Amino acid sequence: MVQVDAALDAAVTSADALADDAGRHLVAAGGKRFRPLLTLLSGELGDGAAPELVDAAVVVELTQVASLYHDDVMDSAPVRRGAPAAHTVWGNTVAILVGDLLFARASALVAGLGPEAVVLQSRTFERMCLGQLHETTGPGPDEDEVEHYLQVLSDKTASLLATSARLGAMFGGCADDIVEAVSAYGEKVGMAFQLADDVLDVASSGAESGKTPGTDLREHVPTMPVLLLRQAVQRGEGSPSDADLLARLDGDLADDAALAAVVEDLRGHAVLAQTRDLASRWAREAAAELAPLPDGPVKVALADLAGTLADRTV
Ligand code: IPE
Ligand code: IPE
Ligand code: MG
Ligand code: MG
Repeated sequence: MVQVDAALDAAVTSADALADDAGRHLVAAGGKRFRPLLTLLSGELGDGAAPELVDAAVVVELTQVASLYHDDVMDSAPVRRGAPAAHTVWGNTVAILVGDLLFARASALVAGLGPEAVVLQSRTFERMCLGQLHETTGPGPDEDEVEHYLQVLSDKTASLLATSARLGAMFGGCADDIVEAVSAYGEKVGMAFQLADDVLDVASSGAESGKTPGTDLREHVPTMPVLLLRQAVQRGEGSPSDADLLARLDGDLADDAALAAVVEDLRGHAVLAQTRDLASRWAREAAAELAPLPDGPVKVALADLAGTLADRTV
């Protein structure tokens, strides 16, 4: 991971002063580096010293960071990785262009890893775009809201986690069945990861998560707790206070006190616990995908990782 950080630093360096400043911003702010970690860890299932692994890890983190520049514009998020979101510092246009620039850097790096990696990164990038697109458009009239949303999570988040794990096993030189197993693990861990993120938007303090609580609620970005509440109310299973909470969630949350009140009400609500349970279920299913892996420290670490994700607070 030390090598990855050094390579990442080089990958976000630009001769242009503004591109350099804005392009370094989010990498320098920190982040968990969860995706490159997954690549290196999966690589340890084979030859963990394979030279391609560091570049592969940088490609997935660059893809992640670039998508965050764009996501914070779309979600009007004020804070990211404990730092002001790029669009609040340089404006939307610069934030979008810097995201594109970092995607370009990821493309150049992945080219050095060969055509299979290029296609994999492209398809992942496409799924991330489709996930964000479908999150924005919402379900069609005949589509189930929760089913639609699970597809959104799979595309916008799980796709990159699956690819992070797959690239690791691939460049570690693992057999096909191991490559498929860690990819399936990454996909399911990704579902747990994003469901936990939905909980985090409500339950975590900004100091802990490095993000502003209630950001998704304020912008009416769909999240699982709100979808579950809507489903309960629509099915006539909700109490009058549930209907009131839903009406407030659908209303204007520009006012800080109004936002704080819905955050507080959701924190104590059963739909939050239900979302946590869903995350745990995906995490358990992710761990089950590890069955074909040889016993050893990597398998244990991947299983532990899945276990801790479901109730993460950062
Ligand atoms: C944030 O990802 C975007 C999601 C897909 C939930 P992370 O929670 O991994 O954010 P960083 O990379 O640690 O900042
Ligand atoms: C981010 O999803 C997904 C991508 C960046 C592709 P969210 O909007 O739910 O993530 P946070 O909460 O801002 O990190
Ligand atoms: Mg967001
Ligand atoms: Mg978003």
